[in-house]
Amino acid sequence: MRLDRPVKTIAIIGGGPSGAIALNTLLEEGEFEEIVLFERRDQLGGIWNLNDSKSDSALNLTAEGVKDYSPNIPVFESNELIREGHDSPHQKFYGTAGYPGMRTNVTEDLMTFSDDTKWPRLIPPEEAGFTNAEAVHAYLLKYFEKVKSKANYKIELQTSVEEVTKAGDKFQLVLKKDLSDGKERWYKQQFDAVIIAPGNFNVPFIPTKYPGILDVNKDVLFHSRFYKNNKQFTNKTVLVVGSRVSGVDMVKLISPVAKELYISHRSTPSTIKSQNLSNVWKKPDISKVEQRDDGKVSVQFKDDTEVVFDYIVFATGYQLSFPFLKKFDPDFTTGNRINNLYLHTFYTPDPLLISIGLYVSSLSYRAFEYQAITAARFLSGKGELPSKEEQQKWYNDRVDQYGDSKDFYFLNFDENLDIFDELINVGGGIEGKRRYFVLTEDQHRSREAARRRLEGLADTI
Ligand SMILES: Cc1cc2nc3c(=O)[nH]c(=O)nc-3n(C[C@H](O)[C@H](O)[C@H](O)COP(=O)(O)OP(=O)(O)OC[C@H]3O[C@@H](n4cnc5c(N)ncnc54)[C@H](O)[C@@H]3O)c2cc1C
Ligand SMILES: NC(=O)c1ccc[n+]([C@@H]2O[C@H](COP(=O)([O-])OP(=O)(O)OC[C@H]3O[C@@H](n4cnc5c(N)ncnc54)[C@H](OP(=O)(O)O)[C@@H]3O)[C@@H](O)[C@H]2O)c1
Repeated sequence: MRLDRPVKTIAIIGGGPSGAIALNTLLEEGEFEEIVLFERRDQLGGIWNLNDSKSDSALNLTAEGVKDYSPNIPVFESNELIREGHDSPHQKFYGTAGYPGMRTNVTEDLMTFSDDTKWPRLIPPEEAGFTNAEAVHAYLLKYFEKVKSKANYKIELQTSVEEVTKAGDKFQLVLKKDLSDGKERWYKQQFDAVIIAPGNFNVPFIPTKYPGILDVNKDVLFHSRFYKNNKQFTNKTVLVVGSRVSGVDMVKLISPVAKELYISHRSTPSTIKSQNLSNVWKKPDISKVEQRDDGKVSVQFKDDTEVVFDYIVFATGYQLSFPFLKKFDPDFTTGNRINNLYLHTFYTPDPLLISIGLYVSSLSYRAFEYQAITAARFLSGKGELPSKEEQQKWYNDRVDQYGDSKDFYFLNFDENLDIFDELINVGGGIEGKRRYFVLTEDQHRSREAARRRLEGLADTI
């Protein structure tokens, strides 16, 4: 399936790394009349931009879990509406999930794009090739600058995409721009195609399966998404739930000031090896939680032990949320996956809606780059998708394998290489305006280094 009429106008939702490579690659393709990138924060860089100007709403846990907001679109007949800005009554997760002290867990050669492979600085030991969030952010800002000389694009900051619908062959976006005088400008704009790159780590996931959890005072509950510093945990007894990357980081960052810290894990990944911090203890999954009158919370674990805590820090990951697509397709996502997405990229019912940056792999930004090249070639009429039936089969096979689990988008190296091959097929071969890069031996070694580093970090628990 090839486009019979190449698209002319494209919206990109999100100004993080995925948005950066999408914009750059579409411009390099050189076939489009107008590309507009919308970023709701006041600076580009996605989660690597640690400077939050807007704070997130308080954590509101309901029986269905943590809820994202539902768009509340004002009625306006003309093309725009200016009104006093008001905080949404709904929960919004505007700020970054990143935190000071965060380090990359992928090396420079895979967490950069193939046409600019150097971060501004590495962190010691430099030969390991890792860096901090500030360096990744600086790299991304510079990467956005690369396209400065091109004419046919715009970047709209502080502009949130609130709704995407389709009428005929045009997508209609409803946009909300925060103005400097505290007002907000609502307006509509139409595009032939839409690339969604809003990130997958916006809305925290907190399991509600634990009896008593919904009755706990909300200020006892915390999610790693909101971590900025460890001050509030000083001399407190803290439980960290979840034992993957955020869990390990929370233990490392909070244990130096906490009185005691416990980490509860559902499964025990091989990365947690020892327990050599004097105030850190391991626990199995929780069986029950009870709010106490003194404001603390009593937690019973599956080994029948009980501990009283000042805080429970959930490092239990994230759920997908695309509130702006609720009207377009109410069943767009299950929270763990997007329904009917071919190669984790093309939305089979309407392949002019394309997702970039959704899946997580050790190939990091290079995976986003493969998706962006394929998108650019398809949208310019050069690429070709297989039939809808074949796309659907590819997707159904993944659903059979992973069900509705978070592992759906956590790809291992071989799975990612298979996707690369299939993306090259859709894109019509390696050569093109922008060439698909081929992984070098060094990059294979980097991947190994990243894996070893993760294990090394977990050793400290
Ligand atoms: C704590 C943490 C650490 C991580 N560390 C690593 C790492 O070391 N290595 C690695 O490879 N990956 C890491 N990741 C994964 C990370 O998601 C990727 O590195 C990368 O940032 C993904 O890029 P993205 O552009 O898809 O999403 P994001 O970086 O999340 O950017 C999405 C952008 O879209 C904007 N946006 C969202 N919704 C809208 C809307 N409706 N309208 C307008 N704009 C919108 C957001 O404001 C944001 O700026 C980490 C993730 C987390 C949470
Ligand atoms: N660069 C960095 O330093 C850095 C820092 C933080 C995060 N990140 C990235 O951010 C992404 C998210 O990582 P994450 O660690 O926040 O989330 P995650 O990888 O989804 O891990 C979630 C953890 O919560 C546990 N969990 C989930 N649901 C549960 C339930 N119902 N009951 C009990 N336990 C449950 C999981 O248990 P199981 O193990 O049993 O599944 C797992 O340990 C990853 O891509 C990661 O690489 C990177």
